[in-house]
Amino acid sequence: MAAPVVHDVRPYPIADETFLISWGIDAPPVGHFPVNSLVIRGREPVIVDTGAPLVRAEWLDAIFTVVEPTDVRWIFLSHDDRDHAGNLLALLAACPNATLLTTWFAIGRMAEEWTTPIERCRFVNDQEPVDIGDRVLVSVRPPVFDNPTTRGAYDPTTQVYWSVDTFATNTPHPVLESDQLGDDDFRDGQLLGGRLVAPWHRYLDQGKWDQCVGAVRDLGVAVVAGCHTPVIRGPRVAEAFELTRRLPAVDPWREFDQHDLDGWMAEAGALAEPGAPTS
Ligand SMILES: [Fe+2]
Ligand SMILES: [Fe+2]
Repeated sequence: MAAPVVHDVRPYPIADETFLISWGIDAPPVGHFPVNSLVIRGREPVIVDTGAPLVRAEWLDAIFTVVEPTDVRWIFLSHDDRDHAGNLLALLAACPNATLLTTWFAIGRMAEEWTTPIERCRFVNDQEPVDIGDRVLVSVRPPVFDNPTTRGAYDPTTQVYWSVDTFATNTPHPVLESDQLGDDDFRDGQLLGGRLVAPWHRYLDQGKWDQCVGAVRDLGVAVVAGCHTPVIRGPRVAEAFELTRRLPAVDPWREFDQHDLDGWMAEAGALAEPGAPTS
């Protein structure tokens, strides 16, 4: 099995003064996963999530084609996973006028790796608004998440919702818009991503889950930008919420096991020696 292929980091406008910073990684044998961040270039520019260390230099270059470092006023950190917080200190260093919107628990979890400068922090919990000059950004926890500190961000002026790890999907090849996917790929990808991110889907009470998903859907989201999905808009927004709503009743995803790994290694001609023990 070849090493994962990383795709270019590039800015992509998705709404008025709103840009996805998009790259991605190949994930054989299921295709490709996007890895995105967001920039809202309003009166007080906001960077939403800080990318992964693997592409730090390219990610910073891409961000600063959209906004000047000294103009960045806010950094909204959805949670402390490395694909979201991986360039946080580099970004804080590059953007001296930025305040970090985070949580007490996220700072604590990141203390395993670095000390976050708390004098530059402001705590923003689920459902709390933040006045960012020409709009009020609202912190809204998405239904599917893989880290307890997770909060998404909703911009009512553009109706863009940063869904963090909700709506994660594999795609057959890199695409920027979900409209570029066929119906089957869109459905199957949403159901695979949802189960990967939230293996706890099987423990959910359907009635309570309906309320949880419905509360976010009813914000009036027109455009979904997420870390691991092409942009979702139009009728596919409702479809994505409906597929997420169905997760409690969907069979668990069968994880790849050692048999799969052995097969991939054999296929790549990477077994150490013919007949060598495999375990
Ligand atoms: Fe995560
Ligand atoms: Fe993620």
